[in-house]
Amino acid sequence: MMLEAVAGKTGLAATQSRPHAARRLVTGFGAALAAIAGVLLAALLFVLARPTSAPAALVPLVETLTGANPRPVTLLMPPDQPMSALARIGERMFHDPSLSASGRQSCASCHSPERSYGPPDARSAELGGPDMKSEGFRPPPSLAYLYRQAIFSIGPAAEENDAPPSLSQLAQQAQNTTRATKSAGTTPAAPAIVPQGGLFWDGRADTLMDQAKGPMMNPAEMANKDVLEVARKLRLAGYDRQLEPLFGPVVVSDPYMLFDEAMSAVSRYQIEDPAFHHFDSKYDAWLQGKARLTRAEMRGMKLFNDPLKGDCAACHLSQPTADGLPPLFTDTEYEALGVPRNPGLVANRDAGFHDLGLCGPLRTDLSKQTQYCGMFLTPTLRNVARRGVYFHNGVYHDLHDVMRFYNFRDTEPGRVYPHDARGRVMKYDDLPRPYWANIDVADAPFDRKAGDKPALTDRDMEDIIAFLGTLDDGYTSGSRQ
Ligand code: HEC
Ligand code: HEC
Repeated sequence: MMLEAVAGKTGLAATQSRPHAARRLVTGFGAALAAIAGVLLAALLFVLARPTSAPAALVPLVETLTGANPRPVTLLMPPDQPMSALARIGERMFHDPSLSASGRQSCASCHSPERSYGPPDARSAELGGPDMKSEGFRPPPSLAYLYRQAIFSIGPAAEENDAPPSLSQLAQQAQNTTRATKSAGTTPAAPAIVPQGGLFWDGRADTLMDQAKGPMMNPAEMANKDVLEVARKLRLAGYDRQLEPLFGPVVVSDPYMLFDEAMSAVSRYQIEDPAFHHFDSKYDAWLQGKARLTRAEMRGMKLFNDPLKGDCAACHLSQPTADGLPPLFTDTEYEALGVPRNPGLVANRDAGFHDLGLCGPLRTDLSKQTQYCGMFLTPTLRNVARRGVYFHNGVYHDLHDVMRFYNFRDTEPGRVYPHDARGRVMKYDDLPRPYWANIDVADAPFDRKAGDKPALTDRDMEDIIAFLGTLDDGYTSGSRQ
């Protein structure tokens, strides 16, 4: 009893004095912690209210929480000037169907102003020709954002030089260099020996002026017989008289001069009209700190840029250039991705037909350089959500299919390519086997094997598509193109 009482007493004393000290300690700690937490919270709230004040370490967190760009940049936009007289004549020609053999097709028929000068519909390839029944085998690229396209070359930018090496010499030199792996990020990959620049899916035209001559005489497009036929139509529509004040009477008397100056007018139009390079997408606004991305768009952007995930920015450059020019979402290099054959193309009814891009059939000067067979120009992704058709053969019509191609080409090819009669997956079914070595298997997400975990989850793919939607023009100006 005594013992118990003593024990009880001391126990009581102990329990009385210890919690007291402990409580003091805890309250002390608590107060300090609360103070620190309070300061941190205040700092965080401050940073969230003014994302640009975020220290480097907090940038990713602030991006995720606010959707804002904590590091806004000033973009160097193309000058906003009134169009020249020549460009205004070019504009009329661009929209004039009387210049085609059918009388029903202008440049704008296949390069629709409502769709960022890309195809007007979701056809794999457009119809053209004298009776509007011939089908090409490539979809029209968007004509927007071509104003900075360099001429076609192979290798790092060639020095100014009296006798530059020929393309085939360059191609031969490049044969012995190993393939460079690209990495997404703020800087483009180190200069590798690769084909780059040029117009068309295969880079066969160098300038917008050369290029415009193509569709005028292409039998599956505006289908004029020759320069003289185009010149006749230009005269009938009165363009010779409109060009005379600029170039003198020679454009009225010489059909070849008339043709050349008309094509230069069409190209000036595409360079001068700001409608071809608005740079007013939500992403442009975000870069400049004038818009906040949604959660999905922000996640998508990070996946797009992440070299271990989408790795899209390795080729579709997403950062402003060192000079502050807005990104074009292409590195203007050529790649063979091995996209599936499009059974919907008339040309593909012939099992022996293959569009090999850089080495033919439309381009002819590199046909012997088989290391380039299957390579096509990386297109811009600006306004890509407005396109109804994707890749050089128009095989896809939905961005979900494009995403599945990137994600499953190597990990689950059975979801991307058709199966043969014996149930085997026909991987790379649009490129003859001798050229399979040209296909990119080095850059993520293509650096995997069958059965490996795909780089992206379903949600990742959805979020990248959400991000692509921020590349549509017209966010800040409200214009549709
Ligand atoms: C029948 C449809 C059609 C018509 C009409 C047409 N184009 Fe095209 N355009 C295309 C296709 C298809 C391509 C891609 C061809 C290729 O890569 O071989 C293309 C490519 C281009 C390119 C290259 C774009 C790039 O990203 O490399 C330019 C520039 C262009 N066209 C301008 C014009 C102009 C100017 C006219 C009118 C004189 C015109 N097009 C008429 C279908 C058409
Ligand atoms: C290794 C370079 C490379 C990488 C990485 C890459 N692309 Fe591409 N992309 C290309 C090339 C080249 C084409 C055209 C290929 C063709 O038509 O054969 C293309 C075409 C596209 C197209 C079709 C555009 C059109 O106008 O037809 C879309 C959409 C696209 N890429 C989105 C993406 C996304 C999203 C990612 C990341 C998951 C990505 N790309 C990663 C090089 C690349």
